[in-house]
Amino acid sequence: MNNSLTCTFKSISENEALARMIAASFAASYDPTIGELSDIKTVVSEAVTNAIIHGYNGEEDHEVYMKMTMMDRVLKIEVRDTGKGIAEVEKAMEPLYTSRPDMERSGMGFTIMDHFMDGVEVISEPGKGTTVKMTKQLTSVQAECH
Ligand SMILES: Nc1ncnc2c1ncn2[C@@H]1O[C@H](COP(=O)(O)OP(=O)(O)OP(=O)(O)O)[C@@H](O)[C@H]1O
Ligand SMILES: [Mg+2]
Repeated sequence: MNNSLTCTFKSISENEALARMIAASFAASYDPTIGELSDIKTVVSEAVTNAIIHGYNGEEDHEVYMKMTMMDRVLKIEVRDTGKGIAEVEKAMEPLYTSRPDMERSGMGFTIMDHFMDGVEVISEPGKGTTVKMTKQLTSVQAECH
């Protein structure tokens, strides 16, 4: 069964939890492992938090867009903002790089996304916004033992 879901929500920090739950609920019908489900929730949190705190500087009156698709047990998640964008994507993706040490960010969000997903692509343009595209192949469903 292939499927897709899109949603748009306001850039308020409470919606990070909402996005995690939506992502987990979407993936749950495909019998992911507990580990896969936890990875999915973590990467969605990281991407949505980035959109809110970096893309929109914590301003609440903007929108974050999330799209998920499942095709042949390949999960694709896209998180997009139309905020300030990233001038140097490669540098931003380096472990421990953060532009907000003042906020005690650790600069590990993209590294975590890379680690938990099979592929992470960041498309960004200063002044236009950022799209993060992530892909994960879910393990095949095991035959049940009786
Ligand atoms: N959606 C975005 N819009 C604008 N800049 C972004 C966005 N996402 C990430 N960045 C930039 O990339 C940097 C690295 O992001 P990353 O998530 O790896 O670390 P962080 O958010 O600074 O810290 P942490 O995620 O560990 O709390 C950020 O500090 C920020 O400068
Ligand atoms: Mg981050």
